[in-house]
This record gives sequence, C-alpha cells and structure tokens, in this order.
Amino acid sequence: MRFDIITVLPELIQSPFEASILKRAMEKELVEVHFHNLRDYATNKYKQVDDYQFGGGAGMVMMIEPIDKCISGLKAERDYDEIIYMTPDGETLNQGIANELSLKGNMIILCGHYKGVDQRVRDHFITREISVGDYVLSGGELAAAILCDTVIRLIPGVLSNETSALTDSFQDDLLAPPIYTRPAEYKGWKVPDILLSGHTAKIDEWREAQSVKRTEEKRPDLLNK
Ligand code: ADE
Repeated sequence: MRFDIITVLPELIQSPFEASILKRAMEKELVEVHFHNLRDYATNKYKQVDDYQFGGGAGMVMMIEPIDKCISGLKAERDYDEIIYMTPDGETLNQGIANELSLKGNMIILCGHYKGVDQRVRDHFITREISVGDYVLSGGELAAAILCDTVIRLIPGVLSNETSALTDSFQDDLLAPPIYTRPAEYKGWKVPDILLSGHTAKIDEWREAQSVKRTEEKRPDLLNK
C-alpha cells in the first residue's frame, strides 16, 4: 500500500510517521508514505496555491491548477484506488471505513486548507471525502494523519500480534473490556479475581459481558446499529 499525501504544510504531518507503529510499518516495507508540497506544483513565480473566491466572501480557496498538476503527475506513474479529500463535510471516519481502506492499494490524500479547495477539484479528481469528526481543524493534515494511522495498523503484519487489532474497541461494534496489568493489588485496589483464575473460557465470557456493559453505559448508539 502506498499513500501520497498532498499538503501545503508537510511539516505538520510528517512526525507521526517518524515514530512507533507507523515508522515500523514503513521500515518493514508494508506501506510507503510520500509527501508532496503543493507549492512545488504552483504555476506562478510567487508559488501561489490559493486565491480569493469568486462571488466574494472571506477566506482563500485552494486553486485547481497546482492540485491537477500534482494528482495527474502521480496518476501518470501508477494506479490509485482512491483519491481522498480530508474535509469536515465528508463521511465521518469509523472503524468500518478504516477496515475497507486497509484492503486497498494506493491512495492519494489531499489535505484541505484555508476555506478548502475549488469545487472542481472535488467534482473531477476526488473519489472519496472523509471527515474525522464534527469539528473544524485548521487544515486536513492532522485528519490525514489520523486516517493513515487507523488504516495502516490494520494492514496484516503491521501489528506484531495481529489479534490485538481484532480486540480493539469498535472492531465488532463493542467497546473493549477493562484491562489490567501487575501488580494484582495496588493500594487495596484489586484486579478482578476471574482474570487471575487461568480459566480461559470464563475469562473470555467475562470480557464479552464487560464489553457489552461498557458499550451500554458509554455508547448505547453502537448497540442500536
Ligand atoms: N479539515 C478541517 N477539519 C476537518 C475534519 N474535521 N475532518 C477532516 N478534515 C478536516
């Protein structure tokens, strides 16, 4: 899988890929991530990538030409399964979308900035629009990092113990059960006896019941799906 991330602020998105699971996934060559500074595709000498909006109104709009140059250049070199635009008015990211995208090949991710991109970019280049939640970020970079993180960790071989992704919250529309580690007792606060019993089947049963209870308490909407 290869991600090509188009941004006006590469420095805002590079660091999550320089540590931990994402870094290891790249080192293991399970995923390639390339950053493209949109300014390198600007068509005038001022490296301009945004302009005032037609019809008036506050805020700048990302111009179509540099984006076209960048996307068309990438598409000339290889095929892409999705060209994603990060925007607060896209479909809201969830575990189902992450699972779906983890099975894809190459993807371009366009990070929005200022007021957003010229609508013609969305109409003619973008195949999917994704939001990370009902709030507005200063740009699409942090949203793109979230998207890449949640997708990359699902690629087989990325997590050392593959089952650990399967037991994540949301993977089966249930929240994960409570977890504990040593010491078994701290300041009188005890780990539930069942977890120390060594009885695997009973532990699984307890965990399932705890997952349901936690989901009922915190996210009943997930149970009504
Ligand atoms: N850009 C700005 N806000 C965003 C959001 N919530 N999701 C995705 N991209 C964004």
